[in-house]
Amino acid sequence: MTILVTGGAGFIGANFIRYWLDAHPLDRVVCLDKLTYAGNLSTLRPLLGRENFRFVRGDICDRDAVDALFEEERPGVVVNFAAESHVDRSIEDPGVFLRTNVLGAGVLMDACRKFGARRFHQVSTDEVYGDLPLDRPDLLFSETTPIHASSPYSASKASADLLALAYFRTYGLPVTISRCSNNYGPYQFPEKLIPLMIANALADRELPVYGTGENVRDWLYVEDHCRAIDAILSGGRPGEIFNVGGHNEMRNIDIVRLILRRLGKPESLIRFVADRKGHDLRYAIDPAKIHAELGWLPETRFEDGIARTVDWYLENRGWWEEIVSGEYRNYYERMYGGR
Ligand code: NAD
Ligand code: DAU
Repeated sequence: MTILVTGGAGFIGANFIRYWLDAHPLDRVVCLDKLTYAGNLSTLRPLLGRENFRFVRGDICDRDAVDALFEEERPGVVVNFAAESHVDRSIEDPGVFLRTNVLGAGVLMDACRKFGARRFHQVSTDEVYGDLPLDRPDLLFSETTPIHASSPYSASKASADLLALAYFRTYGLPVTISRCSNNYGPYQFPEKLIPLMIANALADRELPVYGTGENVRDWLYVEDHCRAIDAILSGGRPGEIFNVGGHNEMRNIDIVRLILRRLGKPESLIRFVADRKGHDLRYAIDPAKIHAELGWLPETRFEDGIARTVDWYLENRGWWEEIVSGEYRNYYERMYGGR
């Protein structure tokens, strides 16, 4: 079986490719990635010589290139991770989010129809549901919670979900959708909360916490997300949405303090900065459906996952130091300078 993984040079996609090649060594994995600022071929380098792995640099919005790749590889399954994924960047410049996250997903689905893929899986996010109040811990997102996106990023992801469901209904394209909570783990680009705080703490730089730091996210170790997608591909019924999360809600400020403790750095490095525009208060996933229908449960406890993640960033400084020393500096100055 050939599986096409788009966005496989990014954080979750790269972890998924490694996971898939281990779990399904007889499959062929083709990765299509544009290598935007967030894509890093060095993450996939150890796999490049393998017979059953191919990397192709390309844009999911480029219909001719996508069709040519489908014609050549005839993937049975397509998993779409390719996206612009950072909320703050979507607030700064939404256009590319609409292009990649909506139009690109449409191009891939058209190719799946044209070349007869037996599954298109859209990797979506809990952010499509908007947010929950901080004082109602009883409320969780279920698959039937109405879509109520807050940022250009989440609106673009919600649009792709709607398009996927429309392709299922109208054309019978066998789509599935997973809506996962915040991931953490190795190879996450250092603009996101956990790696950013680790990198800054190690450099004794200020740790910029938005607003009061009381916003809550529901954290899942990236490998558990990969296993959930595998379970959906093998047992999930087409046309279905599956929420993925591990009941692990944490306040941002508590995550930041935990990282500082683990690195032996002082809390005086914390700096509260101007809040993100439209900042979602709380995300919390109810994963009852994927558990009941597919038997999926998270395997990594947060204490273990975060320890492993901090250690990974300590042991793989070359991977992220190269990133933070390049164009990322301009981004950091734009986003945080004078904030
Ligand atoms: P990421 O930003 O680390 O990686 C995105 C990858 O997509 C990069 O390799 C980039 O080069 C590639 N890409 C971007 N535009 C492309 C295009 N036009 N054509 C081809 N490739 C392109 O993102 P991530 O954190 O790994 O997230 C992957 C997916 O999972 C996204 O769809 C995101 O919405 C979703 N998701 C992420 C999280 C999370 O916590 N990170 C949680 C739930 C869902
Ligand atoms: O919930 C799933 C989503 O999680 C994914 O769909 C997105 O692709 C992914 O980026 C992530 O979105 P968030 O906006 O939740 O992640 P981020 O790491 O940007 O921020 C996490 C929280 O930390 C959020 O409340 C904002 C806050 N934050 C973030 C940064 C970068 C800070 O306080 N300071 C920071 O410098």
